[in-house]
Amino acid sequence: MMPQLQAAPLELIEEIRSCTQCSLHVGRDHPVVGIGDGRSGLLVLGEAPGAEEDRTGVPFVGRSGRLLRLILLQELGLEDDQLTISNVVRCRPPKNRTPTRIELATCWPFMERQIAFLQPRAILTVGNTPSRALLQTKEGITTLRGRTYDRHGVIVVPTFHPAAALRGRPEVEAALRSDVRLLRDVLGAGS
Ligand code: URA
Repeated sequence: MMPQLQAAPLELIEEIRSCTQCSLHVGRDHPVVGIGDGRSGLLVLGEAPGAEEDRTGVPFVGRSGRLLRLILLQELGLEDDQLTISNVVRCRPPKNRTPTRIELATCWPFMERQIAFLQPRAILTVGNTPSRALLQTKEGITTLRGRTYDRHGVIVVPTFHPAAALRGRPEVEAALRSDVRLLRDVLGAGS
């Protein structure tokens, strides 16, 4: 079998890049398909691209993304090229607002197909939007985080968005690190 080298099958990459199903496509530069090939068994899921991600098409490369990557590197020992990261919404919402329910629902089938392709053992959902979407709940991240969930055999670990840790709240970074250590235990247990 050919090794899997990209974060999504080629036809899905093409569909995401050419998608015009919601109004977010109007202002986008680069939609985010994702990086990594799932080898580590972990998929990191964010909300939507910000300015840097829209400019580059790569998820979590802005200030908060750099903090998240550092935490993943320090707590999991994974290098950047071992990370598989995507966003539940692929195009940047204006002024980084939260994606609407309709935008999220329109983009969601891409995520389902990407998860089916990557077959992660665990998913780290970063912030309210991906955590609620994956767990199909209206609960907020403060309530959801700190434990694991089983979604059709995939372990979901919800955690705070690193942007919250950058707003001068050290307890948020401590909680994020603690959730990532939980994730480490889950991944370790399955390997
Ligand atoms: N925040 C997200 O949720 N995703 C990104 O890619 C960047 C910031």
